[in-house]
Amino acid sequence: MSLEQNTQLTPERFQQNLAKLSLEQRFLVVENLSESEKQRLSVDVNYTDGTQTFVTIPADNLRAKDIYIITDPLDYNESKADEARLLPVWRSEQAVYQEWGQQFIYKIIKEKLELGEKLTTVDVGCGSGISSLWLQSFCHNNPDLQVRNVVIDLSPRAVLATDKNARLNGWNDNQIEILLAKYSLDSMAPQSSDIIFLAPPYNPRPSIFSDTLTPHADGWNEEADENFIKQLETSMYHLAPGGVILINQMLPIERETREYWMNKYFGGYPDILVNNIKVYAPIDSQEFLDEVYPDEIVKLLSQYEQKELEQFKKRISDKYSHFSYNIFAIEKYPADITGYPATYKHYGEFTTTMFQKGSWQEDRIPLHREINRGMIKRRVK
Ligand SMILES: C[S@@+](CC[C@H](N)C(=O)[O-])C[C@H]1O[C@@H](n2cnc3c(N)ncnc32)[C@H](O)[C@@H]1O
Repeated sequence: MSLEQNTQLTPERFQQNLAKLSLEQRFLVVENLSESEKQRLSVDVNYTDGTQTFVTIPADNLRAKDIYIITDPLDYNESKADEARLLPVWRSEQAVYQEWGQQFIYKIIKEKLELGEKLTTVDVGCGSGISSLWLQSFCHNNPDLQVRNVVIDLSPRAVLATDKNARLNGWNDNQIEILLAKYSLDSMAPQSSDIIFLAPPYNPRPSIFSDTLTPHADGWNEEADENFIKQLETSMYHLAPGGVILINQMLPIERETREYWMNKYFGGYPDILVNNIKVYAPIDSQEFLDEVYPDEIVKLLSQYEQKELEQFKKRISDKYSHFSYNIFAIEKYPADITGYPATYKHYGEFTTTMFQKGSWQEDRIPLHREINRGMIKRRVK
C-alpha cells in the first residue's frame, strides 16, 4: 500500500489515502456529524463527507502544511461503543496549543535551526496524536531540522489512532516514533526533551469505580492530583535546558492564585518560568460534580454505590472549592542560566478571533457526563 507521502494533502488526497486502508485499519467508528457538532467544530472542521469526521488544523504563517486528524465526534450517544469515545478533539484546548503555545514551540525550533541541533519532542498521552502531528507540521518546510518526535500512550486505541493519523498525513515511522507504554522515567533520557506535551487524564470518580472507568479518562484518585504531580515530575526530569512542557489540565483547586499554583505544583523546580493561561473560568466543584453525575445516571447504581458517590462528591467539594482548566507552558532556562527560583507569568483568559470563549457547561460537562454514563453502565451490566 502506498500512501501519499510528504506532500500538501488536500481533502481529496486525504480521502484517497483513506480509501487505500482496509476497514480494520480505519480505526474509528465514523458517524454523521450532528448540526450542533458542526457548529461547535466549525472553526476546525472544514471537510465532512457526511460519514466521517475530519478535523483540520489549517497551516498558519509558521507552518507550511495543514494536518488532518480523524477523531471521535464530540456528541456521544447511547449506542456508541465506549472505546469509540476516547479521542475527542476539543476546539478550545487545541486552539490554545495552536495560537498561544506556538510562540514557545517556534522559539525552540528557531534556536535548533540556528544551532544546527536536533530537536527532541515527546507527546505524553497522545490520544488522536493531535499535538505531535501538529508539531511535525512545523518541521515540514524546514528539511534541515532534524527531529526525534516521540509519541507515548498506554491506550492501544490511542496509539493506533495516532499511527493511522500520522500515515494519513504522509508521515512514517522514521519521522514519528509511536510507543504503546506507560509514561515513566525510563521513557526518555534525562534532560533530553526539548518540547513535551503533557495532557494527563482527568475524570473525577470515587475509588470504588476504578475498574469500570475507561483507561483514557482514568488517573484520578482521592488525592485528586497525584497522577498529575507524578507525570509533572517525570517530564521535568526529561526536560532539556531551554525546553518547554506544554500542559493541558483540569484540576480541583483550593484557591485560584499564583501562590497556590506555585506552592502546590511548580515552586519546587528552580530555573523555570511558568506561563499560564486559563481555558475556562473555574467552576464551583459541587456544581461540576452534580452536573457530571446527574440523577438519571446515578439512580442506576446500587444503594451502596450511590452512597459512596455522594460521600466522594462531598469530600472533594469540601476540600476543593473549584475545578480549574489551565494551559501551562513551563519554560526551562538555558543551561547557562541557573540558580533562580521558579517564576510565574499569567496571561489571563484565552480569547482570540478563532476561539469563542468556551464555557464549562457547553464544552466540558457533556464529556464527563458521558464518560460517567459509560462507567456506570458497565457497572450495572
Ligand atoms: C486527556 S487525553 C489527551 C489526548 C490528546 N493529547 C489530546 O490532546 O487530545 C489523555 C491521554 O493520556 C493517556 N494516558 C493516561 N495516562 C497515561 C500514562 N501514564 N502514560 C501514557 N499515556 C497515558 C490516555 O490513554 C489518553 O489517551
